[in-house]
Amino acid sequence: MLSTLVTGMAELITCDGTGPDGLGRRDRSALVAEDGLIGWIGPASQAPACDRRIDLEGRSVVPGFVDAHTHLIFAGDRSAEFVARMGGESYDGGGIASTVEATRAAGEDELRRLLAHRVAELRRQGTTTVEIKSGYGLSVTEEVRALRLAGEVTSETTFLGAHVVPAGADRADYLTLVTGEMLAAAAPYARWVDVFCEPASPHAFDEDEARAVLTAGAAAGLGLRVHGNQLAPGPGVRLAVELGAASVDHCTHLSDADVGALADARATTVATLLPGVEFSTRSPYPDAARLLAAGVPVALATDWNPGTCASSSMPFVIALAVRELGMTPAQALFAATATAAASLRRTDVGRLVVGAPADLTVLDAPSFTHLAYRPGVPLASALELPG
Ligand code: NIG
Ligand code: FE
Repeated sequence: MLSTLVTGMAELITCDGTGPDGLGRRDRSALVAEDGLIGWIGPASQAPACDRRIDLEGRSVVPGFVDAHTHLIFAGDRSAEFVARMGGESYDGGGIASTVEATRAAGEDELRRLLAHRVAELRRQGTTTVEIKSGYGLSVTEEVRALRLAGEVTSETTFLGAHVVPAGADRADYLTLVTGEMLAAAAPYARWVDVFCEPASPHAFDEDEARAVLTAGAAAGLGLRVHGNQLAPGPGVRLAVELGAASVDHCTHLSDADVGALADARATTVATLLPGVEFSTRSPYPDAARLLAAGVPVALATDWNPGTCASSSMPFVIALAVRELGMTPAQALFAATATAAASLRRTDVGRLVVGAPADLTVLDAPSFTHLAYRPGVPLASALELPG
């Protein structure tokens, strides 16, 4: 087992919950990685001898980002839809059908190649843990195929058969399929179940339909996640809280009652904000400051998908959160790491502590604040440890 000493850090942010904002900031520190795990963290002056040494020469280290909401398994391109939106069109989920068509038409090797390319792109931007949803298959075999491929790159796989009602299908029949045969086939490949609960979209699912999907998923042993309150006020947040979901995502249009329900459920349900979506759909941003003031745990994710956010960049999301959602740089970093991990009910990732995976993200900057201060600059990348 080879050990690596990581030293020369301007700033080490552990997000271990200590110190101001829970950032666990350490100056003049070093870290030892051994067999992929963190073996030691302490003052650089007391660093033990190691087999190898990486001198970061004044760069900073933060926990690898946890992107807990993506739709990475897809083929095709919807850039024309984005261009139309920038010209004034609005988003209602109707474009999902074209991605379903392109994804079904793609061979397995092609999907695997696209996925590997996307995961490598995430790492180059500092993301080391990723959740991946199905939802562009919408048939038993296609949803299983997507989850099987996702499972080759992450343990955080989410069954999203209830993304939209596929073209030509009867709503009630499709719901029976999703909660029955499709769920049974998908469950062995999935950790989570998710539903696009959005009564404002003719393509998505209303409260009763979403409840049926989530209760069936829970009965099949899956944890719960919800797409809620994205396009308009609606029942998604309250349903997620009622059913004990680990995360409710988007949270763009919230009533005071929604915020109160999330605050009461703070030990169970995380509010995951996806500001890349509002950027890419030219929509009003969610209000992170309002949620944080109420004591709601807030996570950040990309939602990387071909329709509403084609950005894979957590640094971009952090910069948006600071500029547009009312978060401080410290809150945004914590949301993109430790709280994002909590939204996956994980404590082993999203923070740098002894015994945890050595998922280090290096910033070519003297401080993590540069993530928001220098938007669009490729400062962050996952550290590839030797051997
Ligand atoms: O999270 N809102 C529903 N699903 C995705 C968008 C999917 C798509 O448009 O392809 C989202 O925004
Ligand atoms: Fe999504």
